[in-house]
Amino acid sequence: MSTPLLRVTDLQVEFPLAHGVLRAVDGASFDVQEGEALGIVGESGSGKTMALRAIVGLLPRAARIAGGTVEIDGVDVTRGGGAKLRELRGRTVSMVFQEPMTALNPVMRVGDQIAEAPLVRLGAGRRGARDRALELMRLVGIADPSRRYEAYPHELSGGMRQRVVIAIALSADPKLILCDEPTTALDVTIQDQILKLLAALQADLGVSIVFVSHDLAVIAQTCQRIAVMYAGQVVETGTVAEVFREPRHPYTLALLRSVPDFDLVRNHLSSIPGSPPDLASPPQGCRFHPRCSFVRPDCTQAPIPLIALGSRETRCLHHEDCAAAARAEPVVTGV
Ligand SMILES: Nc1ncnc2c1ncn2[C@@H]1O[C@H](COP(=O)(O)OP(=O)(O)O)[C@@H](O)[C@H]1O
Ligand SMILES: [Mg+2]
Repeated sequence: MSTPLLRVTDLQVEFPLAHGVLRAVDGASFDVQEGEALGIVGESGSGKTMALRAIVGLLPRAARIAGGTVEIDGVDVTRGGGAKLRELRGRTVSMVFQEPMTALNPVMRVGDQIAEAPLVRLGAGRRGARDRALELMRLVGIADPSRRYEAYPHELSGGMRQRVVIAIALSADPKLILCDEPTTALDVTIQDQILKLLAALQADLGVSIVFVSHDLAVIAQTCQRIAVMYAGQVVETGTVAEVFREPRHPYTLALLRSVPDFDLVRNHLSSIPGSPPDLASPPQGCRFHPRCSFVRPDCTQAPIPLIALGSRETRCLHHEDCAAAARAEPVVTGV
């Protein structure tokens, strides 16, 4: 296979604490191929946002990358931090945040915010930048763009604002867009429209997408591949179809069994017992073992590496048991 557009290997992000450190991300590994959409799913606090922020170089001041690599087009952007790497990141990758209002400048017309990258970075003239902004506004489904160009963020609805944010993300012609729960703040109908928009951008422009969500149904709708995060680690990767049909990590199975939205073959929903661990002192061995119904003595000893199973991966020693349970009581049909 060719060099992936993005390759994250054993990424570690830590926050120093008064006593010790908190590893917000502690073993995130995943690839994104050109033109592909990868979904990252995991409960709140599992390190999804920090992983994305580390990729674009926008970590909070208190956090630092403590290990691992982030390669964009084969170049490790975590080393050195020079201007050249910042430029590579800025030109290749952009990020769409969960809450559109925080990503927008409240006192600047939205059209000018979209025109900024074409004007400054791509060296388009004033007229050219404005035309490019109008074109992007049409592309993301903003009707009557020349009127909306003059609007301030507070004059737009939540869905319109998120479209503006996506237009800004597209404005530097990136190859990869990182979307951090971009529809969580929106109501269901608008959420659906934004998901369709992202899928269309992927199909029509060939842009790659990393889509973070705590909602498996959203990922099934938008992505070809999935990475499941638990307690700072990627615990399973694979295509959406294979992971949903036959999960190879008990956490993935538990997540799938807790989703109410799928066309289910079973008649009860289960919530995952217990709660995620304190990342300042995670359990020994497999981090999920205190909540796992397949746990065996060897799960509690040493850290579990990501195990390759053909094109998929799992961080579970007993993935066969998990797959057998999924086959015995299918989780999802129609994926
Ligand atoms: N500013 C911060 N200071 C200390 N710890 C933080 C900070 N922000 C996040 N964390 C820790 O990092 C972990 C991962 O956070 P985050 O990436 O935002 O999770 P997610 O996006 O999956 O909900 C959290 O569980 C929290 O413990
Ligand atoms: Mg988050």
